[in-house]
Amino acid sequence: MKKIIALALLMTLTLQALPWGKTGHRVIGLIAERHLSKKAKKQIEKILKDETLAEVSNYMDFIRADDRYDHMAPWHYCTIPDGQTYEEAGTPEEGDAIVAIQKFTEELRTKKFTEGDEAFTLKLLVHLIGDIHQPLHVGNGEDKGGNDVKLDYFWSSSNLHRVWDSGIIDGQQYAYTEYADWIDHASDSNREKWENDELMDWIYESQQLRNECYELPENMKIAYDYDYEHLDLVNQRLLQAGIRLAAVLNEIYG
Ligand code: ADE
Ligand code: ZN
Repeated sequence: MKKIIALALLMTLTLQALPWGKTGHRVIGLIAERHLSKKAKKQIEKILKDETLAEVSNYMDFIRADDRYDHMAPWHYCTIPDGQTYEEAGTPEEGDAIVAIQKFTEELRTKKFTEGDEAFTLKLLVHLIGDIHQPLHVGNGEDKGGNDVKLDYFWSSSNLHRVWDSGIIDGQQYAYTEYADWIDHASDSNREKWENDELMDWIYESQQLRNECYELPENMKIAYDYDYEHLDLVNQRLLQAGIRLAAVLNEIYG
C-alpha cells in the first residue's frame, strides 16, 4: 500500500511542471530559425549538426527522465508573487529560469560550459527562453504555476498549467511547421520592439499576462469559449519567444 501511495505521489510530481508541449516549443524553435542572421544560422548548424532548433527544443524535457539532471527541474520556471518584483521575491537557492537563462547565455558567449558541451548548453537555452514565455511559468507561488488548479478542459480532467502548455495549441491541430507559418507575421515595429526587450521584460510580461490565464468560470469547466478568448495570447507568446530567441542567438553568433 505504501508503495502504491509513493508511486502515485511520484507520478503527480513528475506530471507537474511540464513546459509548453512539444508543438509549442517546436513552433518557437522554427520561428527563431527563420529570424536568424546568415552567420548565426551557419554556426548553429555546425554546433547542432543534423538537428534544427525546432528538433532540439524539447530536449530539456526529455532529460528529466535521467536523474543526473534532477537539479535542473527548478530551472524551467521562476516564482514572482502578484504585486512583487523579482528582487522582492528572491532567487531560490536551487536556481530558477532567470538564473539559468543568464548563465547559459553567458556560457555560450564565452564558450566556457559547466553543465555539458556547447550543443547541450544551446539546447537548454532554446528550451528555457520558450518556457518563460508561457505566462504560468512565472508562477505566483501559490499553485505550482497552475498545476494545482484542477479543471475540466473539453470534458476531460486537466489543470490550468496543462491547458496553457499544450491544450490550446494541440487543439488547433496543426503540425508545428504549419503553426509557425500561421503565426510568424509580426509587424516590423513589434518585431523591433520585441528584439530589444530584455530577459526581465519577458519575465514581467508573463507575470502580468498570467492574470488572463485565471479567467475561469465558477464551475471550472472550460472548452471552446476559453480557447476563443485566449488563443491570441498563446500565439503572441509563441511568436515573441521565437523572435526573442533569434535575437539572443544573433547576438551570440552574429
Ligand atoms: N512548479 C512550481 N511552479 C511552477 C511553475 N511556475 N511552472 C511550472 N512548474 C512549476
Ligand atoms: Zn521546460
